[in-house]
Amino acid sequence: VFEIKRVRKTFKNLMILREMDDTCFPEDSYAPLGLRKYSWWFVYDENNKAVAYAVGCSKKDKSYFLARAGVLPEQRGQNIQQILINERVNMAKSLGLKNVITYTSINNPPSIKNLKKCGFVEWVDAPNYWKTENFISWILNIGN
Ligand SMILES: CC(C)(COP(=O)(O)OP(=O)(O)OC[C@H]1O[C@@H](n2cnc3c(N)ncnc32)[C@H](O)[C@@H]1OP(=O)(O)O)[C@@H](O)C(=O)NCCC(=O)NCCS
Repeated sequence: VFEIKRVRKTFKNLMILREMDDTCFPEDSYAPLGLRKYSWWFVYDENNKAVAYAVGCSKKDKSYFLARAGVLPEQRGQNIQQILINERVNMAKSLGLKNVITYTSINNPPSIKNLKKCGFVEWVDAPNYWKTENFISWILNIGN
């Protein structure tokens, strides 16, 4: 019943993205998800309403960065984050990249569980600038 699409970076989609992001990260300060480097994905329900989103970008070192994801509260518990993770992993593979990286708060059990289910492991060799207190770094090698 859910459909994932990589969406165009129109003003209308930016407003939809911002609204979902405000709902999913009410405590966070503004995240500049509109930056040119980012790609956006939305997951739509059967009424064509966007109920989840993800943002990612490729980096100069041949890795792909999962920058952000959220599922609206009423649609959680249906593995939608895993769809969003796998879609971006496939994008990274199609770009011929080496790995996919991200981080989570230690207080985010659903994200940690979903990343592990998608094959991610703790990135113990993460560079120091990447390490932040109360966050865990994750990596998935995709060959190449
Ligand atoms: C993180 C988020 C995207 C996950 O949404 P989702 O895809 O619906 O994930 P689910 O709710 O299905 O949870 C995934 C798993 O974590 C489990 N889980 C949920 N809350 C949990 C908790 N407090 N403790 C332990 N496990 C928990 C679920 O049972 C599920 O496991 P299962 O598939 O084995 O049953 C969603 O909660 C969200 O948008 N949160 C706010 C924004 C956010 O944190 N984004 C990610 C930042 S990295």
